[in-house]
Amino acid sequence: MHAATLNPPRAERGSSHFALPQGIDCAVSCRDINVRFFTDRRSVTAIEGLSLDIASGEFLTLLGPSGCGKSTFLRVVADLVKPSRGSINVLGSAPQAARERRDIGFVFQDAALLPWRTAIENVALPLEVANGRARAGRATPRELLELVGLKGREDAFPHEMSGGMRQRVAIARALVCDPKVLLMDEPFGALDEITRDRLNEELRRVWKELGLTTLFVTHSIYEAAFLGQRVLMLAANPGRVKEIIPVDLPEDRTLDIRETREFVELTARLRRVLETC
Ligand SMILES: Nc1ncnc2c1ncn2[C@@H]1O[C@H](COP(=O)(O)OP(=O)(O)OP(=O)(O)O)[C@@H](O)[C@H]1O
Ligand SMILES: [Mg+2]
Repeated sequence: MHAATLNPPRAERGSSHFALPQGIDCAVSCRDINVRFFTDRRSVTAIEGLSLDIASGEFLTLLGPSGCGKSTFLRVVADLVKPSRGSINVLGSAPQAARERRDIGFVFQDAALLPWRTAIENVALPLEVANGRARAGRATPRELLELVGLKGREDAFPHEMSGGMRQRVAIARALVCDPKVLLMDEPFGALDEITRDRLNEELRRVWKELGLTTLFVTHSIYEAAFLGQRVLMLAANPGRVKEIIPVDLPEDRTLDIRETREFVELTARLRRVLETC
């Protein structure tokens, strides 16, 4: 989906543009979600009144200060946390049904690979856990490793790989059950900048090739702007939507786009909003 379709002309944008323009397929739809956590001593409102539609095939990036509920929101979509109030629909059903259909892939900050398994064995793991209940993916574990640039390293063990390679394996593993929605929680946060840049370019290529609805959490305004078609900016205490910022950049992006005036202006705007969150 082209960002221009997702981001209607300014004049047509309502003041609360959490709903998509008419005629666009919606992959994730949330209305007035609240998430409260209760611990021994206190309760925390991690998310308050979050309403948002995410288009089918959209790349949405999430930015916001620490503790504003970014990870919690991904966990709600993945059915790992139940909202205390509000409704959420993932691909036409409740998150639990989407999870049971294996429609959701999740990549965490830490690749969390099993150290005694090779790259290809780690990628195949969700298929084994599903024990025949997963739909056969479009691509085999071997093809997915090729897709993420690890052809020839199928038999490497995690301790033989760099952090960037391990994250590639984690992405391939998240894709093995052929999900429709890919959730990524600061997946490249621990990597050096050059590796991160390269993975950003490759992730956009994989996203375009597979047409996945992607939600990507980051603390980097540059990463958020480079990857996203829209940026969801969350504010903290309590976690809530601050602004949804359209990314009016060409869809074909290489890293040199970061030197363009449009990119510099966009990141300046993201920074200004982030400072008020
Ligand atoms: N399982 C939990 N039990 C209690 N409180 C929690 C739980 N998970 C998250 N919280 C609280 O909810 C709030 C939002 O947390 P969350 O992890 O979603 O923030 P975040 O935006 O991902 O932050 P960061 O950028 O540091 O990763 C925080 O105040 C956090 O302490
Ligand atoms: Mg987090």
